[in-house]
Amino acid sequence: MRVLETIAAFRAARAEVPGPLGLVPTMGALHEGHLSLVRRARAACATVAMSIFVNPAQFGPSEDLSRYPRPLARDLELAEATGVDLVFHPDVAEMYPPGFATAVVPVVPGGPAQRWEGEHRPGHFQGVITVVARLLGIVSPQTAYFGEKDWQQLQVVRRMVADLAIPVEIAGCPIVREPDGLALSSRNVYLSPEQRRHATALSRALRAGRARYEAGEREAEALRRAIEAVLLDTPGVRPDYVAVVDPHSLEPLTRLEGATPGARALIAARLGGVRLIDNAALSGGEPSYS
Ligand code: PAF
Repeated sequence: MRVLETIAAFRAARAEVPGPLGLVPTMGALHEGHLSLVRRARAACATVAMSIFVNPAQFGPSEDLSRYPRPLARDLELAEATGVDLVFHPDVAEMYPPGFATAVVPVVPGGPAQRWEGEHRPGHFQGVITVVARLLGIVSPQTAYFGEKDWQQLQVVRRMVADLAIPVEIAGCPIVREPDGLALSSRNVYLSPEQRRHATALSRALRAGRARYEAGEREAEALRRAIEAVLLDTPGVRPDYVAVVDPHSLEPLTRLEGATPGARALIAARLGGVRLIDNAALSGGEPSYS
């Protein structure tokens, strides 16, 4: 495995490896969710690249940029053991050279970026898709792998790639959960033991929504309330939002009929200072992207 810290060095290394190349973009603090993306890339691609870059542009001023975990040595061990060939690990000056902030190129998201995380974390998706567009330009992968835990991010990236006609396939990969249902996240390390116990409320709430759907409920607001009730009933859990949405546009739904494939429930909730997100399909199977 080679670790490259500059764009020039990465491009030189990339020129020597066989294709197809799969990219797993990360901010490090790797867990089994990231490693499942690597395995998926490994199964399909001759070369697997991973980027490790804690992207300041996607953190708001009151968010956790400075305390975001950065266990680089462990990340590199895990990446190598899981079959990554090339790691791109730039510093901030390499990704955002002087003048970048005032350049004409930040990618401004609309459509599916406007609600939910977009509303609660102003500027977040602009930071995400600007860095993702830049990473895709540097790495030129055939396929880039993203986890479905950040469902809205996945839709926003898909739209950005389609709108800018970037020649890459975006592969969404299933959420990896702890045995008790908690979705894996680099932020789970911030939870106290008590918060960790209460954090299962997110996946329990999603299961309650799904059960209500399976029992015949089709009104989106009734499903939304069934999900929210589990969060509100759990001590120390404060929902930021609960939404039942079209899986592609992220627009709220009114009714879920047979014609709505994979209507999605989205949750963001705070446990003390820790903010977690989770989501699940409520109806039907997963939506198709053909
Ligand atoms: O999902 C993440 O870890 C980040 O948002 C990403 C896609 C690596 C961009 O910084």
